[in-house]
Amino acid sequence: MRTRKLIAGNWKMNGGLIANVALLKAIHAGLHNPSCDIAVCVPSAFLAQCQTLLASSPIELGAQDLSQHEAGAYTGEISAQMLKEFGVRYVIVGHSERRQYHAESDASVASKVQRALANGITPIVCVGESLAERESGQTDEVVKRQLAAVIHLNGHCISEIVLAYEPIWAIGTGKTASPEQAQAVHAVLRGQLKAASDHAERVRILYGGSMNAANAATLLAQPDIDGGLIGGASLKPQDFLAIIDSAA
Ligand code: 13P
Repeated sequence: MRTRKLIAGNWKMNGGLIANVALLKAIHAGLHNPSCDIAVCVPSAFLAQCQTLLASSPIELGAQDLSQHEAGAYTGEISAQMLKEFGVRYVIVGHSERRQYHAESDASVASKVQRALANGITPIVCVGESLAERESGQTDEVVKRQLAAVIHLNGHCISEIVLAYEPIWAIGTGKTASPEQAQAVHAVLRGQLKAASDHAERVRILYGGSMNAANAATLLAQPDIDGGLIGGASLKPQDFLAIIDSAA
């Protein structure tokens, strides 16, 4: 069974050496025996700094992407092995911004998941539909296709992943999926995981997309919503802390 919820911040391309210190200091100051797991997924340029800032912290370190290749002539890429050296526990894979702006395919996302798992890093695998896909009734088909590629390559250890449902129309827009809309998709994903693994109940399925201090509690109360992947609100200490409290 899922034991603890996971609240993961995705800083995206934000932060700076000075701002990171202030942000993590403020979060630590408000953190009292959290009863959920917490992570921050930081830009790779700040992994070394954040590894130091998070030493002996309950907050775990995450990255936002990794290479599908092991090593070699891939200019600009960062390998799973490198992430491991910086104490990275989680890595976001297949975020819609990477699928959209960097043409990441379902197949390359599946390879990245494989690479992360082989190196003992938990991938946070993102799936989600666009507004046009939702409006034309294709939501289930789209997220199932995205997850199927990951299962196809990683079926034997699929229960080791974290899954994140992030409807693209809800990301950074202030429009959140209703708890019922989110739960419905999470249930579809849970069913697909169950068909692939006897341990599917153990997989945490996060919701992401304009989750904030005001809407977190009702989203997190849904039976198949096991945490959140938080963008904008993870850069505001009081908001991030309030979401962490909602996960208790
Ligand atoms: P927002 O919380 O800013 O909508 O971003 C969600 C997201 O993309 C997290 O990965």
